[in-house]
Amino acid sequence: MSASQPVDTGLTGSATFLVFSVTRTDSSIQAIRRVLSSIPDITKNISIRDVNANLTCVVGIGSGAWDSLMKLPYPAELHPFPEVRGAKKTAVSTPGDLLFHIRSERRDLCFELERQLIDKLGDTVRLEDQTVGFRYFDARDLLGFVDGTANPVSPSDISDAVMISESDDGSDATAVGGSYVVVQKYLHDLKAWKALSTEQQEAVIGRTKSDNIELEDADDGQQQAHKTLATIEDASGKEHAVLRDNMPFGSPSAGQYGTYFIAYTRHLWVVEKMMERMFLGHPPGLHDRILDFSTPITGSTFFAPSLSNLKALGDEE
Ligand code: HEM
Repeated sequence: MSASQPVDTGLTGSATFLVFSVTRTDSSIQAIRRVLSSIPDITKNISIRDVNANLTCVVGIGSGAWDSLMKLPYPAELHPFPEVRGAKKTAVSTPGDLLFHIRSERRDLCFELERQLIDKLGDTVRLEDQTVGFRYFDARDLLGFVDGTANPVSPSDISDAVMISESDDGSDATAVGGSYVVVQKYLHDLKAWKALSTEQQEAVIGRTKSDNIELEDADDGQQQAHKTLATIEDASGKEHAVLRDNMPFGSPSAGQYGTYFIAYTRHLWVVEKMMERMFLGHPPGLHDRILDFSTPITGSTFFAPSLSNLKALGDEE
C-alpha cells in the first residue's frame, strides 16, 4: 500500500486553507511540480523547530490541472465540484487547481509554511482563497456545537473512510494511497442563529449543545437534522463515513463568522450525496436547516495523491 499524505493528522489549534488556480505555461507547470514535490521537505524543515506542534501540509490537485501537473491517469471519480441547486439553497462551484491544507498547534508554524510556499510559487499561481482557521474551545464551530464527533477515530476506520486501496473498483493503481478532498467556505448569520432557542438549534444539528449527545432521528415528515441528512448508506445498508476537519474562522469586528468545511473521502460520491441531501433536501424540498444560517461562498474538489506520487513530481522528465 502506498503511504498517504498526512490526511489523518486530526484537528489542530490552527489551520490555513489555500486554494489557487495555476498559470498554465510550460515553465510554470514545471516550477509548480518542483514546489509540490518539495512540500514534505519544506514541512519537515519548519516542523523540526517544534516537533510537538505537529505541523503538516496536505496537497490536493483539482481535475482541471491534474493532467498537466500529475501526468498520471485521472483518479476514477475526479471531476470539478458540481453545483447543487435546490429550490431554496445552492452549493456553489468555484475555481481551484491546487489546495494546501496546512495544520499545526501553532499559528506561527502555519504562517511560516504559507510564507515559504508563496515565495516559491511566485507568479505561477493565482490565489482564489486564503482562510485561517482556529480551534474554538472544545472543537466547537461558531454555531456553538462540537464539530467532528462522528469522525472515524481508529487508524483502520480512518483508512477505510478516506484512502483509495488496491481493491477499489475502477480506480487506477496510481490513485492508491490517495483521497478525494472537498472544501466549502461557509459564512454564518449568527444573529439569526442566536434568535433560535437552544432546543431549536439542537433539532437543526441533531445533537445536544452543551454535552454533545446524539438525538434520535425525528420521523415527523419535517426537515431532518443535519446529522441525519449527512448520514449516507449504500444499497447494501453499509454506512459510509468521511473524515471532516472543519475549522471556524472569522473576524467579529468585521462581522464575519464562518466554518471552513473540509472532508477527505475514499469515495467522492459519498460527499456529493451528502451535499444533495443537504441542499436539495431529503425528501426533496426539505433542505438542511443549517443552510438557513450558513451560506457557502466557495466549493471545490481535489485529489490528494499518495506521498510517493507527490514526491515523484520532482523527478526530471
Ligand atoms: C455532523 C456542523 C457542513 C457532513 C455535524 C455536526 C456538526 C456539524 C456540529 C455534529 C457533530 C459531528 O458529528 O461532527 C457543520 C457545519 C457545517 C457543516 C457548521 C457548515 C456550515 C457539512 C457539510 C457536510 C457535512 C457540507 C457534507 C457534505 C457531516 C457529517 C456529519 C456531520 C457526515 C456526521 C453525521 C453522523 O454520522 O452523525 N456537522 N457541518 N457537514 N456533518 Fe456537518
